[in-house]
Amino acid sequence: MKKLFLLIGFLLCSTPLVFGQYTDYNLVKEVQVKNKGVVVSAFPLASEVGAKILRQGGNAFDASIATQFALAVVYPQAGNIGGGGFMVATTEEGKKFTIDFRETAPLKSHKDMYLDAERNANTDLSQYGSLAAGVPGAVAGLFEMHQYAKLPMTQLIQPAIDLAEKGYAITQAQADLFNTYKDDFLRLNKHSIPFVKNLAWQADDILVQQDLAHTLKQIQQKGLKGFYRGKTANLIVKEMKRGNGIISLADLRQYKVKVRAALIFDYKGHEVVTMPLPSSGGILLAQMLQMTNLMGLEDKQLNSPEAVQPMVEAERRAYADRAEYMGDPDFIKDQTQKLISKSYLKQRFANYNPDKATPSSAVGDIIIPQKEKKETTHISVLDKEGNAVSVTTTLNGNFGSKVMVSGAGFLLNNEMDDFSVKPGVPNMYGAIGGKANAIAPKKRMLSSMTPTILLKDNQPFMVVGTPGGTTIPTSVFQVIVDIIDFGTDVNTAVNAPKFHQQWLPEYILVEEDFPHYTIKTLEKKGYTFKKTAKIGRTEVILVDKDGKYHAVADGRGDDSVGVE
Ligand code: GLY
Repeated sequence: MKKLFLLIGFLLCSTPLVFGQYTDYNLVKEVQVKNKGVVVSAFPLASEVGAKILRQGGNAFDASIATQFALAVVYPQAGNIGGGGFMVATTEEGKKFTIDFRETAPLKSHKDMYLDAERNANTDLSQYGSLAAGVPGAVAGLFEMHQYAKLPMTQLIQPAIDLAEKGYAITQAQADLFNTYKDDFLRLNKHSIPFVKNLAWQADDILVQQDLAHTLKQIQQKGLKGFYRGKTANLIVKEMKRGNGIISLADLRQYKVKVRAALIFDYKGHEVVTMPLPSSGGILLAQMLQMTNLMGLEDKQLNSPEAVQPMVEAERRAYADRAEYMGDPDFIKDQTQKLISKSYLKQRFANYNPDKATPSSAVGDIIIPQKEKKETTHISVLDKEGNAVSVTTTLNGNFGSKVMVSGAGFLLNNEMDDFSVKPGVPNMYGAIGGKANAIAPKKRMLSSMTPTILLKDNQPFMVVGTPGGTTIPTSVFQVIVDIIDFGTDVNTAVNAPKFHQQWLPEYILVEEDFPHYTIKTLEKKGYTFKKTAKIGRTEVILVDKDGKYHAVADGRGDDSVGVE
């Protein structure tokens, strides 16, 4: 695999994918282009599939569907058909809407299902194995999106089938992941799975997924019934029996996506179109942007102490509200309008002290190390007609529950851990929740995914999103502030060191290269810091005033831009 960083203004020619294994592909980190659509995703082969679909006459919905199917093959740590997610779209005709294809709790679930006889939470069960899986929504979400697409679904699935059948060359990062999770795969699967082999994986080894290809063909031939009924559904239920899981045929038959009105608010003349509950992402984004707006950030510098302090304090207050008020709006009182109102946020930020860190105990009644790596994946697409699709999809942890459905070749999510398994017990992201996010049959678990589109004068201005668990809203927040308030270019906004505060734990998580001066200055005010390797992998498309698209794929991973 060749690496081409900062390939500005260069149109990637179509990868020669027709015969044999997919071994020759490029990482394209940045593109500026006019009158052509762009796709940004976590893996070059998937972005190139989306771009190819645009060249075949598809629109942003077509490209996004094909890219998601391809990610389920070439980015198996998070791309999926056994998980769920959210899509936010704005169309050239001015329609703005979201599709919620979040997983649901199975009919046999109950609020104490992960508590032992002493009522201690067993988070191993909510994170590993079949019992950790929610009812998958991804395939239903893709079919819901398809009504806005132009090409037949059969055509959009075919590239994923080819990739699974013929195989593709994995990257070093993927080889490392397969090796890291080998023991989990062996422990949690009775059958052999394609991610496990005797020798250690290396970059450029070929991964072939015949069972997955077969399942994708079922979906191609039978539509939704190819997943939620018949052979695939039976294989899922058989897997449940083997691993003490509880998803039933009735769960699969009854799964429904929800088309929800987008959460829309103004930020400095930009119309921010984002995801409402059951993702906390949109509310948190609105709260953080509006709280920092009370201070004014325009005269401050990216990642300076003067900018980071109010942003951290906005993050702290927003995440305290997440723990208390947010959950599936079909099950709880939806308090969104209050939580994002100017008067509420003014009062929420009133105890901000520029001289001193606010203790988290002062903004909410009170994480603790993360056991698991967060994994999710984001796709930003903008076609030349101006249809924008921002979609974030997840298995939750890396490779989800680590359980592959025997004979069907796809991984099941471990999304049940996004519920509050017991009030006050942190999930794998250290997030704490209470009643609002307690488990109930058919309920959707609270998410942090923040697929977002910004419009200016009713035209797309930015398409943005990222993986990263609870760090998702703070990364999206920072990219928007970097571009709009600090006036950075897109590449800087995407690749600048990120920081994250989520109420609890008290510390600020920062990337290794976060400015030392800012850390030292804020430590004197009582802030504490913890370093982490990477926060998020943000995929951004920005439209400049001449109508040129600037697409940037995050430098932290194998993320890549595809061009029509
Ligand atoms: N599973 C990560 C999220 O939904 O936020």
